[in-house]
Amino acid sequence: MKIICIAGARPNFMKIAPIMEAFHSHSGIEPLLVHTGQHYDEKMSNLFFRELGIPEPDINLEVGSGSHAVQTAEIMRAFEPVCIEHAPNYVLVVGDVNSTIACGLVAVKLGIKLIHVEAGLRSGDRRMPEEINRLLTDSISDLLFCTERSGVENLRREGVAAERVHLVGNVMIDTLLKNREKAERSTILADMGLEAGGYATMTLHRPSNVDNPKRLSNILDAIDHIQRDLPIVFPIHPRTRKNVSAFSFEDRVKSMKNLHVVEPIGYLDFLKLNASAKLVLTDSGGLQEETTILKVPCITIRENTERPVTCDIGSNQLVGTSTDAILGAYERIASNQFDQAGIPGLWDGKAASRIASILIDVDAQTMSVTKP
Ligand code: UD1
Repeated sequence: MKIICIAGARPNFMKIAPIMEAFHSHSGIEPLLVHTGQHYDEKMSNLFFRELGIPEPDINLEVGSGSHAVQTAEIMRAFEPVCIEHAPNYVLVVGDVNSTIACGLVAVKLGIKLIHVEAGLRSGDRRMPEEINRLLTDSISDLLFCTERSGVENLRREGVAAERVHLVGNVMIDTLLKNREKAERSTILADMGLEAGGYATMTLHRPSNVDNPKRLSNILDAIDHIQRDLPIVFPIHPRTRKNVSAFSFEDRVKSMKNLHVVEPIGYLDFLKLNASAKLVLTDSGGLQEETTILKVPCITIRENTERPVTCDIGSNQLVGTSTDAILGAYERIASNQFDQAGIPGLWDGKAASRIASILIDVDAQTMSVTKP
């Protein structure tokens, strides 16, 4: 069974790592790794391949940045000949980035079966580019692997046949659990002069937050208050750095003495930083899940989440983007007992191997049906 696996942007890399490992250890599966090149900087891409032991991509499409239409179209143009040349049985895509839908579309139009890992998540907000990518990818996928029960429910409501949907757990958590001990050995806290429990980490890169000057300004007001109390480590995304400069917020950011703005950080150092933080502020999807496992309180600076289980049983607070709401959540963390938060079912480090076993089974059934 030949499977082309797609990785394009940073959050894809921690998802594809355990899948490649599981596929390599199943003799029935021949994986081929394609990097679309959506993310290409050393610190947004190569570092993750090295740290997570992801094999060198067999093919790099090197598409780079562009508007959504240009980026998606370029990936499609570059990926189609790869599919034609290698004629895989399946194309496997993860997550919700432009590379996910672009490669998915190419596959199905060539009659190649599509597998979506992290299927069914819905924020309900169609202004998010990722929500469009999720809806479209799921609607054309043949096999859909879900991380949480809400994903299974969403797909059922959308009319996806139950036999195509499998609740397998979370491949991103496979990576976290595998690397937790290694991350413990990171010296990042000492290097940055931080003490465990004595700082927060923050990530901010959603276009809805950082492309809008008013919203970014409100968030910065909240950050300003919090950093007076607690140092904040802020590995800044290239999109956010550009906008801080474009909106002339640089002096404001520089004036926050306890806000440590740093370049994007590698996986192991960032895992160590998050695991030892008093709290995490974020608008990322993956970090809501990682803090759930780490049992570190998370303030999600968004109006909605496609990962509701992190709020229902985890340590995540979904607060929106107003200054007061962010500060209110910050105040609550001091009094709340987040140790009580639970861990979603099947987030146990074995999701990728479940996916591999299901694929072997499905393939065996297909073969027995198609044999004369
Ligand atoms: C993409 C994903 C988003 C994910 C995020 C993680 C889509 C629609 N969005 O958003 O879901 O959460 O990745 O980072 O696919 N840039 C660099 N170096 C790089 C890559 C990008 O400098 O290696 C800069 C470029 O100026 C680029 C901008 O960042 O224009 C945005 O990159 P892009 O891949 O378009 O989207 P992200 O905002 O990273």
